[in-house]
Amino acid sequence: MVENGGIERAARTEGTPDTPLPDELGRTPRVVLRRMTSLDQDEFLERVRASVDLHQPWMSLPATPEAFQTFLGRFDEGRSAEGLLICLSDSGAIAGNVNINSIVRGRFQCGSLGYAAFAPYAGRGYMSEGLGLVLRHAFEELRLHRLEAQIQPDNHASTRLVQQHGFRYEGYSPDLLFIDGAWRGHDRWAITNDMAGLVPSAPHPTLPGR
Ligand SMILES: CC(C)(COP(=O)(O)OP(=O)(O)OC[C@H]1O[C@@H](n2cnc3c(N)ncnc32)[C@H](O)[C@@H]1OP(=O)(O)O)[C@@H](O)C(=O)NCCC(=O)NCCS
Repeated sequence: MVENGGIERAARTEGTPDTPLPDELGRTPRVVLRRMTSLDQDEFLERVRASVDLHQPWMSLPATPEAFQTFLGRFDEGRSAEGLLICLSDSGAIAGNVNINSIVRGRFQCGSLGYAAFAPYAGRGYMSEGLGLVLRHAFEELRLHRLEAQIQPDNHASTRLVQQHGFRYEGYSPDLLFIDGAWRGHDRWAITNDMAGLVPSAPHPTLPGR
């Protein structure tokens, strides 16, 4: 069955394994990873509206066109942040989003993940599959060394997602991030390229020689 969440979308999202989308970054039989663009605004906002109960109290995503454009403006193809979408391979429907935020080069080569599934596609393994593509993109294409995820201890779905991909628990930081109107303590999870088995053949040019 082709799932589309009832939303019309442009033909540009209908890539195939033989003819990938121009902005496609990776693909499995079920999901495609691609960059978010301004063409995604209407569907993204519709998915956010449909996912309020799923996202509360963990995540707050843009809910108006103005907020979406501001959100999109933060992303610069991996120089300081990437805004990515996990879409269904068959219909192109947006099933989730993953940001690689706060990218720092030089001796750190690190980014910080933010992500959310969208109703009605949550709990079907699409996020887990898509996160695998994100790790490959971050480590092989962006040539980052490390990805972090800060997760509130009661957020079991998010914790399970990173555990599945081999992230390591690094500790708990009180009052780490301002979420849902208050400073919340978070567990810090991280994975390096060697842990994921995704080490690029050459390091990023900003990595010092020694
Ligand atoms: C975290 C989130 C992205 C996971 O998305 P998802 O669609 O459930 O992901 P998947 O279907 O790929 O499932 C990934 C794993 O998490 C498990 N999982 C899903 N919901 C769960 C829950 N409520 N409790 C425990 N594990 C859960 C799945 O069963 C699966 O593990 P398994 O294959 O071993 O069974 C989604 O729950 C979400 O959007 N939450 C709100 C936003 C959020 O918390 N973002 C992260 C902030 S740190």
